[in-house]
Amino acid sequence: MSIHFGSFVAVESAALDIAPGEFVCLLGPSGCGKSTLLNAVAGFVQPAMGDVLVGDARVRGPSVSRGVVFQSSESLFPWLRVRQNVAFGPRMRGLDRAQVRELTDRHLELVGLAHSAERFPDELSGGMRQRVQIARVLANEPSVVLMDEPFGALDAQTREVMQREIERIWRDAGATILFVTHDLNEAILLADRIVTMTAGPAAQIKAVYPVELPRPRDETDVGAIELHRRIRQDIGIEVSKTLRAQGLE
Ligand SMILES: Nc1ncnc2c1ncn2[C@@H]1O[C@H](COP(=O)(O)OP(=O)(O)OP(=O)(O)O)[C@@H](O)[C@H]1O
Ligand SMILES: [Mg+2]
Repeated sequence: MSIHFGSFVAVESAALDIAPGEFVCLLGPSGCGKSTLLNAVAGFVQPAMGDVLVGDARVRGPSVSRGVVFQSSESLFPWLRVRQNVAFGPRMRGLDRAQVRELTDRHLELVGLAHSAERFPDELSGGMRQRVQIARVLANEPSVVLMDEPFGALDAQTREVMQREIERIWRDAGATILFVTHDLNEAILLADRIVTMTAGPAAQIKAVYPVELPRPRDETDVGAIELHRRIRQDIGIEVSKTLRAQGLE
């Protein structure tokens, strides 16, 4: 698949197969095209060449079956309570009252926010708002969840808690996850496979690293440290290219 913006080639012939239920992390230097690739899977941008297939079906546009969690939680409706934010998708899908209630309760429970269901988004912490976003996406029962640096705006401690939670949620919900991050440790904690990209323009998939470490993982584990060293080297080369292109190195 290739993705162009006018005459600008953002991503060039990226090919990636993701198995159902797999957790894949996408890493690469800033501006290489991670969000662009994720947006193509979401159906927000169309590839110039090639296709995105989910099962046998070609992606033609956004769908609730491919939920997107953004970096900031500005996508929440501030005038709706937490419960109503999560219920919004199921309601739009035309489910009956009992089904909407069941999905909403279950997913608020899943992200540990049942006790905050009647609050408004601006009465929550950043980490809690991010969990509402995740519950809202999962309440649509997507088969694919796309996350673009979902914890990027959180402090280190909240981030650690959220990483543990997303791993548990992924296990419980059984969805396929494509997760963009800048944080190599985060990728090693979460991913079944880590995919690195080359520096743009015309970014390509550079390497795929299976993470065969037992879960729950510990970043101080010998295997994790070794993998970290290898991938850091890989990404470091691409980051240097980006900096050189910008005249910064
Ligand atoms: N709508 C657009 N129109 C034109 N160019 C775009 C558009 N969206 C992205 N680009 C360009 O495509 C390239 C890849 O951008 P993208 O946002 O995918 O990078 P990224 O890897 O997500 O970066 P970051 O890590 O900083 O989020 C960049 O050069 C960017 O300027
Ligand atoms: Mg991005």
